[in-house]
Amino acid sequence: MFRKFLTMFSLMLLITSVAGADDDGLMKRAQGMFKPIPLTPPAIEGEPATPEKVRLGHMLYFEPRLSKSQLISCQTCHNVGLGGADLQQVATGHGWQRGPRNSPTTFNAVFNVAQFWDGRAKDLAEQAKGPVQASVEMNNNPEQVIVTLKSLPAYVDAFKKAFPAEKDAVTFDNVARAIEVFEATLITPNAPFDRFLKGDAGALNAGEKEGLAAFMNKGCAGCHNGMNVGGLGYFPFGVVEKPEADVLPPGDLGRYKVTNTAADKYVFRSPSLRNVAITQPYFHSGTVWPLRDAVSIMGSAQLGMVLSEDEVGSITAFLQTLTGEQPQIVHPVLPPSTSRTPKPVL
Ligand code: HEM
Ligand code: HEM
Repeated sequence: MFRKFLTMFSLMLLITSVAGADDDGLMKRAQGMFKPIPLTPPAIEGEPATPEKVRLGHMLYFEPRLSKSQLISCQTCHNVGLGGADLQQVATGHGWQRGPRNSPTTFNAVFNVAQFWDGRAKDLAEQAKGPVQASVEMNNNPEQVIVTLKSLPAYVDAFKKAFPAEKDAVTFDNVARAIEVFEATLITPNAPFDRFLKGDAGALNAGEKEGLAAFMNKGCAGCHNGMNVGGLGYFPFGVVEKPEADVLPPGDLGRYKVTNTAADKYVFRSPSLRNVAITQPYFHSGTVWPLRDAVSIMGSAQLGMVLSEDEVGSITAFLQTLTGEQPQIVHPVLPPSTSRTPKPVL
């Protein structure tokens, strides 16, 4: 009896140590390909994040008076309660106009190599000037934004405090700079995957680990790696097989419009997959809703393989472990309009 128990015990030990060794190998490989999201916001080169600047950026992110209608703010399309995105297929802005692309999340955007689906803005400050002026988004212009902000004494004061060395601190450049430092605070650390990367083997369950292994073995990690599990490089959408026209609309040539190089037709930045489980719908066209379907499409379009139901299931389970702690952002109290504030134009 005792011998039987001993044999069973050693068998169990063997199984656990093999599983442990496998976990070890998986963790080491993952640590070589990905990095955890830091616990505190990253510093932006040349743009020190003073509390005054972050506070101003926070207000501006929620400020609908940056738009001509005074209804639309960054928060409209990058809702901090919805994973930094908007649940819409494509962005819906001024006069209910529908833009050409899905709104990507602003969360962890600071870690992307460049901004927008085609990488046309080099950083968050350059990016922030776009939507304010885009006719289908906020439909405003820099001059009107400055007139509006200068009509609100609390903003004049906040700009002075955020940019104390400048004589006339209320400028369109400074709007973008303040928003940039606020956006850098929108990071989502401590996802189960981050805890795994930091050495907690129990942070992922067996199915999720299988998904992680498949994600690395099948080649997904070739384009979705680093701290943001993506966001670092540009790749053709449909490397092996072109997706259907609704998923990859023929009219959006992607990075070609930025570089004017034929090889960049239908090339897009591989998006970060951080928080992907809560930022439906998917792809720049926003036409795919279930995450499982997005995973299958990636298998055929990017890798030329039909992933089995089980593989799609485990990869999807792994992607769910990329949901981190969401930033707890309080809606700021914004200064009341004055008699000098321009009226909203719908
Ligand atoms: C892209 C921030 C307003 C819709 C982005 C990105 C950031 C951002 C950081 C790039 C993310 C990435 O590439 O991963 C902001 C800020 C705003 C603002 C700071 C306010 C000043 C809006 C509004 C809408 C919108 C009001 C919707 C009407 C979009 C869309 C994209 C985008 C569709 C992708 C566009 C493309 O790739 O061509 N935004 N956004 N944004 N945002 Fe906004
Ligand atoms: C988009 C997952 C392989 C490049 C996506 C999205 C997901 C995903 C879920 C949509 C994200 C969003 O819209 O927010 C995967 C998985 C893969 C894989 C699970 C392996 C089965 C690859 C490979 C490449 C790649 C190998 C590069 C050759 C891209 C690009 C996009 C994308 C460029 C953006 C497509 C667009 O909308 O224009 N991926 N991916 N992916 N992925 Fe992958």
